[in-house]
Amino acid sequence: MRTELFNVNQDIEPIEAIARKAFSATPDSSVEQWFSFTEMVKAIHEEKGACVLALSDDNEILGMTYAQQENPINGNEGIEKWVIVIAAVNPEHAGKGVGSKILGKLEEYAHSKGARKMFVYTNKGDDGVVNFYKKNGYEDAGWIKDYQYGKGNSAVFLLKYLEN
Ligand SMILES: CC(C)(COP(=O)(O)OP(=O)(O)OC[C@H]1O[C@@H](n2cnc3c(N)ncnc32)[C@H](O)[C@@H]1OP(=O)(O)O)[C@@H](O)C(=O)NCCC(=O)NCCS
Repeated sequence: MRTELFNVNQDIEPIEAIARKAFSATPDSSVEQWFSFTEMVKAIHEEKGACVLALSDDNEILGMTYAQQENPINGNEGIEKWVIVIAAVNPEHAGKGVGSKILGKLEEYAHSKGARKMFVYTNKGDDGVVNFYKKNGYEDAGWIKDYQYGKGNSAVFLLKYLEN
């Protein structure tokens, strides 16, 4: 398996397909309700976000993850604080280290662009996802009531300081 950065001239469709497949059996299966691939491409073009892909030896996309500046400004709060918006691994390849690998590469790239803090949030009670991030060095950073999907869906936040 190898990793590479998505570049804006690449075909987005196979990446969308992997994301949809990864989320199909989760509470976030309506991907278009909370994620925009068009906005992702725009942010990457503006160098305010980055998407890392995992590819097999025969170029099948195994997974993708995307993070962006939490605030798209040029001041410190824009440059230093990033947020992971999506991480998706083809379920047929889950649990084999693909997600951790692309996450590590994403952190490395964001750090090279000035990021010092990486946040991520997910649905409260989603222990599988929380464990994935904790296994990768993220710590609890609190929760926000009813953050997603109207009422009754709180979000837990996790944080990792990106060291040199
Ligand atoms: C969460 C996800 C990106 C992890 O990718 P992965 O390649 O399976 O992760 P890794 O193999 O590097 O790490 C596995 C760890 O992730 C956690 N995990 C979460 N969901 C998992 C799943 N469906 N299968 C296996 N492990 C999962 C476990 O803690 C596991 O640790 P363990 O092997 O010690 O039990 C992937 O399972 C996925 O795409 N899930 C559906 C979409 C989603 O919820 N994304 C996260 C929110 S943005």
